[in-house]
Amino acid sequence: MVRAMRAYDVIHKKRDGLPLTKEEIEFLVDGFTKGTVADYQMSAFAMAVFFRGMLPDELAALTGAMLHSGEVLDLSEVNGVKVDKHSTGGVGDKISLPLAPAVASLGVPVPMVSGRGLGHTGGTLDKLESIPGFKVNLSTADYRRLVREIGCCLIGQTAEVAPADKKLYALRDVTATVECIPLITSSILSKKLAEGIDALVLDVKFGSGAFMKSVDDAELLAQTMVDIGTRMGKHVVARLTNMDQPLGIMVGNALEVEESIDVLEGRGPSDVVDLTVELGAEMLFLGKVAKSLDDGRDQLRRSLRDGSAKERFGKIIEAQGGDRRVLDDRKLLPRAPKKLDVKAPRAGIVQSIQTEAVGIASMLLGGGRQRSEDAIDPRVGVELHASIGTRVEVGQPLATLHVADRGVDDACQKLLGAFRIGDGDAMRPPLFGQRLTGA
Ligand code: URA
Repeated sequence: MVRAMRAYDVIHKKRDGLPLTKEEIEFLVDGFTKGTVADYQMSAFAMAVFFRGMLPDELAALTGAMLHSGEVLDLSEVNGVKVDKHSTGGVGDKISLPLAPAVASLGVPVPMVSGRGLGHTGGTLDKLESIPGFKVNLSTADYRRLVREIGCCLIGQTAEVAPADKKLYALRDVTATVECIPLITSSILSKKLAEGIDALVLDVKFGSGAFMKSVDDAELLAQTMVDIGTRMGKHVVARLTNMDQPLGIMVGNALEVEESIDVLEGRGPSDVVDLTVELGAEMLFLGKVAKSLDDGRDQLRRSLRDGSAKERFGKIIEAQGGDRRVLDDRKLLPRAPKKLDVKAPRAGIVQSIQTEAVGIASMLLGGGRQRSEDAIDPRVGVELHASIGTRVEVGQPLATLHVADRGVDDACQKLLGAFRIGDGDAMRPPLFGQRLTGA
């Protein structure tokens, strides 16, 4: 008699470093989604994967099982190659806001499902919601319609998409199994592939403000995601980018919307513009609208200069219930009631910035969440006046805090501690690292 499969045996095999079959992985994920595999068993499995890793076949099976644990959206009715971008999360990373409308305005459909901020990193959904009226919880039918009609929709993950990931991430969060490349890969890809995309550009961050602090870990994560995504039939490109200082000068929700509007008007900080252009060029190339990356860069820069990207953002805001007048009247965005300068304690040159601490300062003011259920204040955040290599005099503002009623002293301390000022020369680290593509 053939013995029925048991979660215990699958966990036992992984614990001992033996390869799992596709059927065993599907059995486990399916049971976990339905509730017949207990949370403690799935937690034990996650810890076994943390120590033993996964072979490419196992990881493709895990990603596939998580992807098919819920609804997989079908966008085949939308013409063109549908391309999205995913960033592993940074501080001041508002790139999705100018990028998605710019790429859509050039003819590549962008179905974008984003997340909320947690800890020191911000989230695209929170930034968008600081635009009065903007709704991110649209139905799947509206999501399809907007991608078809205006080439872009910016929404949050619905309960129906990759429910196994939602449940598993909650367990990983409390069992010290988040920082695990196979589990991160299957988590991100299962959600992204459920959006109905054909191709994906990954922005994998490294450095003091990133999830992956070392460039080697970031490279391994990027290559693993590219390989598994490619195996699953998608065109995937990854760019490694530096997070040793925040992106742009604004950190905080409404503040980052303002900076994104600057970029959509052909202005804005050069690092934000360069990253928007580079990721946009990759998306246009994958979307078969650009002949080469250089052509993509040219097209993208043009869309920022000539107002077509801004015009498309206006359409998206309007279609998602928001007040598009914010694009021409910044006063309609929420604003903090007070500002406070954080001043340099000594003269010298900024040697380094602890990017994570800048994100935490914004969080302490109410701009981010310590726990997923926390409410955020869209008005607050940090405006930076110095970057690595900037010469400052004693008492010169390093940053301005936009504050309301929370965490001012703690945020001030956190921010002061984030800047290391010394006498030697210091160079801004290059923004771009490696570019990784599938076989
Ligand atoms: N983001 C995700 O969506 N999943 C992870 O596992 C880590 C970061």
